[in-house]
This record gives sequence, structure tokens and C-alpha cells, in this order.
Amino acid sequence: MANSIYDCAIVPFKKIHNRAGNLTVVEGLKNLPFEVRRIYYLYDIPGGESRGGHAHKRLFQLIIAASGSFDVLLDDGENKKVVTLNRPYFGLMVVPWIWRELLEFSSGAICLVLASHKYDERDYIRDYDEFCKMIV
Ligand code: TYD
Repeated sequence: MANSIYDCAIVPFKKIHNRAGNLTVVEGLKNLPFEVRRIYYLYDIPGGESRGGHAHKRLFQLIIAASGSFDVLLDDGENKKVVTLNRPYFGLMVVPWIWRELLEFSSGAICLVLASHKYDERDYIRDYDEFCKMIV
């Protein structure tokens, strides 16, 4: 059941450069190892706020700083690491059973999330102590 934070990786995407601007493509099951069934984004995040603070049982996610920057704290109950996202052509793939917190949002940051499943509150573990008990 338990996964490791080392299963969560930065995925580099191709930047299609053009003098009129850049373009990056993410295509489920092509350059991303899961089918994308849902997209959501966080924006207008007030200074000092944090998001996340939960784990998922089966959801895979790709987290992208579409604009600005923020940190993602990953925690598998044993190890923790902080990943800074600040380029729209890098995504952080987060596997199931990883506690995550998003923090240190820059002003105007946009956090784009591509998810492997539709929204299902039953997939969430929102209590950290419960998470730690469930992964042993
Ligand atoms: P939540 O996942 O807790 O936000 P975050 O992890 O960014 O802090 O979701 C916040 C609220 O939005 C919660 O009431 C559930 C709702 N929500 C949906 O209805 N659909 C979704 O796809 C998501 C991600 C959240």
C-alpha cells in the first residue's frame, strides 16, 4: 500500500519554443504515465497560505507551477522532502499514499493539477495521524 517520496519525481516536458512565446504539451499515457481525468487549478492564493494537507489512496497527480512558484512538501511517514516548482515545463508527479502540503506561494502563482481520477472525497486522508496509522 505505502509508497515512498522517492516514487514522486519531477517530470520535464518539452518546451516548444517560438519567438511569439512557448508552449508545453502534457498528454496522458504519452508523456505522462497516467490518463488525465480531471484538471483543476489554484489561484488567488493569499500570501502566507498553504494548501493540501492530505494524502490520497489511489490518485496520481501531476502538479505544475503554471505561473509563479511554490513549494511542495512530500511526506511518506518516514521521509520528507521539499520540491520547489517554478517553471511551467516541469511537473511534479505525486503518487498515492503521500502526504503533501503546498506552501510559499509567490504572488500571482497558479498551481495546475492534472489528476488520474474524478473528485472523490472518499479517496482523501485528511488527518495526519490517521495517515501515519494507515501506512504501517
Ligand atoms: P482540497 O482538495 O481540500 O483543496 P487543497 O488540497 O488545494 O487545499 O479541496 C478544497 C475544496 O474543493 C473541497 O471542499 C473539495 C472541493 N473540490 C472539488 O469539489 N473538486 C475537486 O476536484 C477538488 C480538487 C476539490
